[in-house]
Amino acid sequence: MSISAVKGFRDGLGPAACVSRQIEDAAAGVLRGYGFDEIRLPILERTELFARAIGETTDIVEKEMYTFEDRDGTLITLRPEGTASVVRALVEHHLDQKDPITRLYYTGPMFRHERPQKGRHRQFYQVGAELFGREDPLADAEVLACARDVLDAVGVRGARMLINSLGDGACRPAYRDALQAWGIARRDRLCKNCARRVDKNPLRLLDCKDPKCREATADAPLLKDHLCGECDDHFARVRSLLDALGVAYEVDPRLVRGLDYYVRTTFEITADGLGAVAAVGAGGRYDGLVAQLGGPKISGIGFAFGVDRLALALEAAQPGAEDRAAESLAPAVFIAVLGADAEAEALALARKLRRLGTRVELDGGRSLKSLMRRADRLGAGRVLIVGEEEVAARRGTLRDMIEKRDDKLAVDFDLDGEALLLAVGVEP
Ligand code: HAM
Repeated sequence: MSISAVKGFRDGLGPAACVSRQIEDAAAGVLRGYGFDEIRLPILERTELFARAIGETTDIVEKEMYTFEDRDGTLITLRPEGTASVVRALVEHHLDQKDPITRLYYTGPMFRHERPQKGRHRQFYQVGAELFGREDPLADAEVLACARDVLDAVGVRGARMLINSLGDGACRPAYRDALQAWGIARRDRLCKNCARRVDKNPLRLLDCKDPKCREATADAPLLKDHLCGECDDHFARVRSLLDALGVAYEVDPRLVRGLDYYVRTTFEITADGLGAVAAVGAGGRYDGLVAQLGGPKISGIGFAFGVDRLALALEAAQPGAEDRAAESLAPAVFIAVLGADAEAEALALARKLRRLGTRVELDGGRSLKSLMRRADRLGAGRVLIVGEEEVAARRGTLRDMIEKRDDKLAVDFDLDGEALLLAVGVEP
């Protein structure tokens, strides 16, 4: 009996893998331009790290983490997100001592035991960026502009950036209490989930998806009316910088996040093509997190995009991304080897071309007709035939697959570099 992948875990095949890689490369290019250095994070961390950083009462920590005992009894977790790990690394390696401002980006798989659906998987990929040591609104505006530039570079058009301020330690506790009291007084009108979480995590009442519950909380108190002066000023400055930059956003006063570490500016980016899950990316400020995880008192802000969701949004914005990727996977040259005597020459030629950066498929041991059929199926631009006659003449025969025409003994085996590329008809 064959074995299939675990539910919610997928293989990234051919063109789909190619699109994911293109998205990651485009995003990384933008992030490097913004001064972020790559950090390669471990996939496993101590469970305690996520419990403390993300929050004990969040859905992620309560229900979604892949947690198990290591052989020595340590509780470990497959990372559900990257921010906690970046903060751990910053503290562990005292990165702030080299430069008080640190910019790091990462890509890779994250794991959450959620109900799989379109755009939601148990192993999914993120590309994320974190900026430490800057409390000023300029940093928020820079990070938000950077997120927009990532979307542009990837090719996702028409995304909406929703932003809100979640206040800070000075103003949020009083608001939280007010919202909780408001919710408890209306518990019977809330959905089952919110009736329960109003006790532990009342802010989540605001982003419940249940239509009835949304209606019940339509006139709930909002944080924007409870922000302290400093948070209010900070948020106003962020918005005016974004306006000046021409970075489009919408203020969503009901935006809250499923991770507890956020303060002040938070945001979510939504795009078409994602079905029920709308967010392609999200982020925000987390000024207390570094100290909370045992580090110095430095602020942080960042975001992460879901690569799988960016791929869906890209497909909606510019249909055919996978077809275009499939085209790029076609070999530029297909070398058809006819007979054992031709093998060494054919292999040497293929290697020369490959070392020049050309994608070459090499195949032999069958009739020319069957090799041609395969070259056609792969979408190869050209076939270079290397058989007995070609070896004797030290020149290969080139077949133009579009014109279906042979150029007898056209490619001199001793050519190299640009001359060889030109001879096989590949742009140098
Ligand atoms: P998050 O909102 O939990 O934030 O995830 C960020 C993005 O990851 C989401 O917007 C979504 O595109 C993608 N994502 C999340 N869960 C799944 C899933 N099950 N399947 C597919 N894609 C998913 C964070 O993770 C924060 N660490 C972001 C951040 C960085 N905040 C500050 N710095």
